[in-house]
Amino acid sequence: MSSKLWEKNISVNSDVETYTVGLDREMDLYLAPYDVLGSMAHITMLESIGLLDKTELDALIAELQNIYEEIQNGKFIIEPDVEDVHSQVELMLTRRLGDIGKKIHSGRSRNDQVLLDLKLFMRSKIEEVAIAVKRLFDALIRQSNRYADVLLPGYTHLQVAMPSSFGLWFGAYAESLSDDLTVLRSAYTVVDRNPLGSAAGYGSSFPLNRAMTTTLLGFSTMAYNVVYAQMGRGKTERIVAQALASVAATVGKLAFDACMFSSQNFGFIKLAPEYTTGSSIMPHKKNPDVFELTRAKANKLQALPYEITLITNNLPSGYFRDLQLIKESFLPAFDMLIDILVMTERMISEIEVNKNILEDSRYDYMFSVEEVNRLAVNGMPFRDAYKKVGLDIESGNFSPNKDICHTHAGSIGNLCNEDIENLFNSILDSFNFSNYHAAFNNLLSR
Ligand code: ARG
Repeated sequence: MSSKLWEKNISVNSDVETYTVGLDREMDLYLAPYDVLGSMAHITMLESIGLLDKTELDALIAELQNIYEEIQNGKFIIEPDVEDVHSQVELMLTRRLGDIGKKIHSGRSRNDQVLLDLKLFMRSKIEEVAIAVKRLFDALIRQSNRYADVLLPGYTHLQVAMPSSFGLWFGAYAESLSDDLTVLRSAYTVVDRNPLGSAAGYGSSFPLNRAMTTTLLGFSTMAYNVVYAQMGRGKTERIVAQALASVAATVGKLAFDACMFSSQNFGFIKLAPEYTTGSSIMPHKKNPDVFELTRAKANKLQALPYEITLITNNLPSGYFRDLQLIKESFLPAFDMLIDILVMTERMISEIEVNKNILEDSRYDYMFSVEEVNRLAVNGMPFRDAYKKVGLDIESGNFSPNKDICHTHAGSIGNLCNEDIENLFNSILDSFNFSNYHAAFNNLLSR
């Protein structure tokens, strides 16, 4: 018997086989549990429209549950001459159940199967990312509140500018993650639409009940137009990659700040020694390798949307094998992002901040605007006050008043961390991940 679902009487050249499969079997292992869940929903629908009978459905569901368990226990493999996960699952059902296994593919193509698998995978992985983002967010808010009043020089052009605080610094990255979560939420909306039933990209003459599989899989809605459902391949991944890139950009910037602030020339923070690395020649070194690799990984993640754009650019509508290649960098990207979020959360929680930065007179000038403002409050026109302070600085007569408390919203004295937390948590709640968990539990517990 031929090992390809599509092989008839001529066997494919073995080099072509190797070339066209590449890393795809490995990638498909990421999708395996979702392929099984998708098949469960598809055959339940097939039974409802008379393409399977109840006994056939029950036998198939029971066997798919076995395969699902094998996947969870790490026992599932895609055999060397089996093309992909979709073929492997069908082959296992056919081996175990005979002709019944051959019935599951009615009204379906591997094109909508892989679209579905990818969407189910993305939905779960976005949830994992959101949870990891939440942990880092919480750590940042904790540190922001803890060091709310510890002043830190603010910079423009990397020149000392105005007083800032550790409260503002940590809190800024927390609020940045809130905006990233909004982007992730939008990407989730795009993902959360059922492509199953689009088949090869042009639908099917079977009376498929797409609304039913939409509900069974816990999707909010379906991708309505079957041609567009297929066009969503690559586009959906790019949109999700853009959201991952947005989170990565926040973490990358934080990592750069942390590397810079921990350098002896700044000395604003100290990294926990067990989170630093040494040098083979310089015995004093405590290097911020973790943040450096975080920065590089964050940059790699930001390249991902561009890579996907380049793979898909100028492809006409309809399925093309080009799309397969997206999986190689896209599927592992979620775990890479989660890793950097977890590591950053640990680093941030362990950071020691320098509470005596202001004792160093090189930061005195950051109080110049405070002095101008004090004169202005007492009646001197702002421009005159600005000139006076400028001349005092030049003639060495500037002695700053370092008691400062900005009270307006979002400032040193009023960080608005509770507002930021409310914003973040309301976005997080809006994902409603429990919808799809409930649907998956129903499919798995029949
Ligand atoms: N491995 C393929 C992919 O990721 C699965 C779909 C195959 N479809 C096809 N028409 N050859 O795109």
